[in-house]
Amino acid sequence: MAQRPYVIDQMISAKAIAARIEALAREIEAEFEGTDKLVVVGLLRGSFVFIADLVRELDLPIEVDFLEASSYGDSTESSREVRILKDLRGAIEARDVLVVEDIVDTGHTMHHVSTLLASRKPRRLKTIALLDKPARRELSFKADWTGFEIPDEFVVGYGIDYAQRNRNLPFIGKVRFT
Ligand code: IMP
Ligand code: MG
Repeated sequence: MAQRPYVIDQMISAKAIAARIEALAREIEAEFEGTDKLVVVGLLRGSFVFIADLVRELDLPIEVDFLEASSYGDSTESSREVRILKDLRGAIEARDVLVVEDIVDTGHTMHHVSTLLASRKPRRLKTIALLDKPARRELSFKADWTGFEIPDEFVVGYGIDYAQRNRNLPFIGKVRFT
């Protein structure tokens, strides 16, 4: 699909993101205090920057694993049908697990992924999303931790793409079509 021309307006600065991640890390450490091992599961690809910054703030014994669910493709609309494109490498039965997502939008992805992972009987399963667009929810889902609630805007940067572009922006910006 051809992309319409757009500009990006900054919505959340790199500094604000870093400060929020520090605060979230302290809450996660408190929740998982004493864990033998926390498996931090990043949802590819949008969470790769967030998980990289988050795990470096966590003073806990962790492992990192990744899972890829089907995405928007090149559109700004969710496909609603969630498929697992790449599963975890490791087993999570009886493990402490933290799922790291970039954005909860309609809720389909996290609803599907958390139901799937819960069926593998982890000891504790918690979720964190950098961004939440509650206005767009179609399936009920609330992450245990949320970085920022944002309005119904299409955003890019800090790992998040529009048709694979703009993941490398250090801040979160909103796409404005021109
Ligand atoms: P959901 O299944 O509708 O909740 O969609 C979640 C996924 O859609 C996220 O993991 C993102 O990859 C993608 N997504 C949702 N909103 C945006 C956005 O504003 N920009 C880029 N990707 C988004
Ligand atoms: Mg995603």
